[in-house]
Amino acid sequence: MLAILIPVLLFLRVIAVAADPSDFRQETNFDEGRTGPSLNVSSCPGYAVVSERQTNQGLVVQLSLAGEACNAFGHDIANLTVEVTYETATILHVNIYDSAKIQFTVPQDVVSLSVGENDPTLKDRSDLEFHHDSNPFEFWISRRSDPDRLPLFDTRTKSLPPTPIPPVIPGDNTTALDGFPLVFEDQYLQLTSALPLDANIYGLGEVLASSGFRRDVGTNGGVGTIQTMWARDSPDPIDENIYGSHPIYLEHRYDAQTRRSKSHGVFHFGAAGSDVLLLTPPVSNTSLIQYRMVGGTLDFYFFSGPSPQKVIEQYGELVGRPTWQPAWGFGFHLCRWGYADVNETRQQVAKMREANIPLEVMWNDIDLYHALRDFTTDPVSFPADQMEAFISDLTANQQHYIPIVDAAIAKLVNASDVYDPYTRGSELDVWMTNPDGSEYLGQMWPGYTVFPDWFANNTRGFWTEALRNWSTAGVNYSGIWLDVNEPSSFCIGSCGTGANLTAATIPTMFFPGTPGNLVTEYPEGYNATIWGPSGNITINGTLTFGNHSFGRLHKKRGLGAAAEPGVNLDSPPYSLHNADGFLSTHTVSTNATHANGAVELDTHNLWGLMEEKATHLSLLELRPGKRPFMISRSTFPSSGRWTGHWLGDNISKWQYMYLSIQGVLQFQLFQIPFVGADTCGFQGNTDEELCNRWMQLSAFMPFYRNHNVRSALSQEPYRWDSVANASRTAISIRYSMLPYWYTLFANASMRGTPPIRALFFEFPDEPELFTVDRQYMIGRDLLVTPVLTPNVSTVDGIFPGQGRVKWRDWYTHAVVDAAISQNTTLDAPLGHINVHIRDGSALLLYDSPAYTIAETRQSPFALLVAQASDGYAFGTAYLDDGESVQPTPNTTLTMKARKGELTIRPQGDFDVQQRLVKITVLGAGRTRPTDIRVNGKPLRNSSNWQFDSGLERLVISGLSLDLNAPISLTWQ
Ligand code: NOJ
Repeated sequence: MLAILIPVLLFLRVIAVAADPSDFRQETNFDEGRTGPSLNVSSCPGYAVVSERQTNQGLVVQLSLAGEACNAFGHDIANLTVEVTYETATILHVNIYDSAKIQFTVPQDVVSLSVGENDPTLKDRSDLEFHHDSNPFEFWISRRSDPDRLPLFDTRTKSLPPTPIPPVIPGDNTTALDGFPLVFEDQYLQLTSALPLDANIYGLGEVLASSGFRRDVGTNGGVGTIQTMWARDSPDPIDENIYGSHPIYLEHRYDAQTRRSKSHGVFHFGAAGSDVLLLTPPVSNTSLIQYRMVGGTLDFYFFSGPSPQKVIEQYGELVGRPTWQPAWGFGFHLCRWGYADVNETRQQVAKMREANIPLEVMWNDIDLYHALRDFTTDPVSFPADQMEAFISDLTANQQHYIPIVDAAIAKLVNASDVYDPYTRGSELDVWMTNPDGSEYLGQMWPGYTVFPDWFANNTRGFWTEALRNWSTAGVNYSGIWLDVNEPSSFCIGSCGTGANLTAATIPTMFFPGTPGNLVTEYPEGYNATIWGPSGNITINGTLTFGNHSFGRLHKKRGLGAAAEPGVNLDSPPYSLHNADGFLSTHTVSTNATHANGAVELDTHNLWGLMEEKATHLSLLELRPGKRPFMISRSTFPSSGRWTGHWLGDNISKWQYMYLSIQGVLQFQLFQIPFVGADTCGFQGNTDEELCNRWMQLSAFMPFYRNHNVRSALSQEPYRWDSVANASRTAISIRYSMLPYWYTLFANASMRGTPPIRALFFEFPDEPELFTVDRQYMIGRDLLVTPVLTPNVSTVDGIFPGQGRVKWRDWYTHAVVDAAISQNTTLDAPLGHINVHIRDGSALLLYDSPAYTIAETRQSPFALLVAQASDGYAFGTAYLDDGESVQPTPNTTLTMKARKGELTIRPQGDFDVQQRLVKITVLGAGRTRPTDIRVNGKPLRNSSNWQFDSGLERLVISGLSLDLNAPISLTWQ
């Protein structure tokens, strides 16, 4: 969408002068001693141990360059320090840095990692062990519990035969690196570790991977994955770098002999642009992971797992666990780019109500703005007084409003122009600068713009003030949507000081729907002659065309601008596989400078995170005690502490509905679990069938928002009867499950446990599940099998457990007759999404889901218990007021069942006002009970319970049980 570039190329000479030279890059003559990018990195000398000493928590090793500098893509740094720290029993830290500490590292106040336990006994008892060789210095990590000490991470790759890495694009010779010594230069760092052949690797993002959620490690001389970490505004291309950077992966190892598996995790903590390659040398019994960075240090954390979930929890323990979501955030959100005015926006709210489709939060895109400027309302189309009235109507109906905030701030176009945020920001000196100290100028929707410098002292205050002023000037939002914070800018590099400011104002001609930029795409298989331009399925749900196979949208992009002879901050000598090429393309220039002297080349990937943190803290200040609600596009490790995320500018295609599942799974691993896709698709036109299926799928995802691009066919769920029906059904289930969702997110915030799970997270010893990403689990207990292709009325899905688990249909409660370790075909007519309940579960539900979350939370509770064959079932439910910042009164209910018996025990200080009115027990036995007792008292009124021996289902209704006290139910 934003791939509109105004080619203003002004490459400013880079001189990054740090305020404190020990903190940041020093001015360097990079030309000296450089041998050029064609150099063979395998001839780099590596490092040798000079000295080492044991510390309380681990080991410190001093290294020096083991031969003549190779200066492959910068300058070899002669002296390195390796600090090995046993942080906890499950987290091992290996930090390799330049002893002079000149390389950029992420400041503590940007990402504060949790400090270790400082326990000297960890060296002898931690799950992971560090080993190293001295000359050359190479290290490996193994598990203490493994008698064979098989390495989990192993940099002893120098002895491997030279491995030509094939050019990604023919003729692109700068990727032909071979050999794997440790390289640590100012502008190029390389570290390589062996992986098992065809390893199961997950994570490394943000990406839409053609290989699926499980990454491709390549075969026999092939590079499977090049994951570039360079935040980029690009509308959801496949296999390219996009909005966020997450250098964390989970490796899942299965031992075919023991039929057991273990997972571990590896996190590179650094903000530098990097390429992470997964490849397999020719004729080799190992695959490899190779990190190539254009700055920073080699700071690694290893997590011992050993289950996938534990790895994710350990990562959360380190970077910080996700922020608590307000309960209303789980409601249905509606948005589009192109609601022309407040009336049209209001109309959506009314139409949703008329159609009786629950709407929790109404959003506006940049249409809201005056002259496309942040923190404004258009005086004609969105006048402040009307906005105020509109939002107070929403509030009165217990609904919410969220506006967009773009990253770039408009610059005044002339002396008579009035725009407070710019003027105030200038007064407070909060803008990013050029290397010469002048204001850095970019270009975004409002024309020429400046960018907040999150490192400047006054920026947080400025931001809070702007958000406060806006909220009192008609836009009384409940949450904030942070967009284009890679940050996006249309100029390549700085637009230049002294530019004609009026020349680039409001480039609406680039907006979708304007001549030359019409929205003409439809979902795969869309047949306009049958379906008509409104996108209706005129032959109601019947199959109107053959099945579709989707070509792999596999597309790899090569290197960017070739490295220039004069090395500088504009173009690091090693060219990252940034799909836009030159690093400053479509973003703030890499030579832009921050208040503390840091250069954008080093901090680019942090921009979104820093804005998220500032916004979160501002919201806390503006609404004390209330949980901030935010969604943001560009993320970095620890972003989940501040914000949720949406998957960006996806396309109204079936392919993208499928890709949304791997996107949501990735972000569980990244500890940003509150995530979802633009439902029904953003770019292009959707159609009834796709929107129907997608509204149902997203109802079972954490963040549930329908968002559409300007001028595409309207896709609000009320537009088609079938979509309205499908949405009502799915939303009603979602809202009834709210206590379950809420508990999963409480566990995420308290323990880092991922709410959405790949099937193998729950069933780690079943290799047939390792590639499954067309199904997923919500928590431990629910399996979702969505339809992801057009024109079908069945769907294939696997039921994990290898025959040991009973799966019951959500709707009928019937046990699925599932094939073992193979797909089972399920009925899936349009408007029906398959959801199955795992046995051994106990789910607290709302009995009467309502129009809003607030009304739903007034509903009495119901309990759904699915007993395993031995009668076992277990579940917990976390309850609190749904909006207060922790710590806040809360109660956890623990539900446990065995044959003929169920108990519920509350623990905590939250007063649970709603009563438990219904208990459904599945797997309650074949024989009709004759004696049912609640809290020891026989249930006299037989009309209050029903028994179905076929379904083995006992339903007790008409109850009114106080959940603040223990409850027991027995039947025999
Ligand atoms: C890009 C965002 O990703 C998209 O969601 C939004 O609609 C447009 N910017 C316009 O603001």
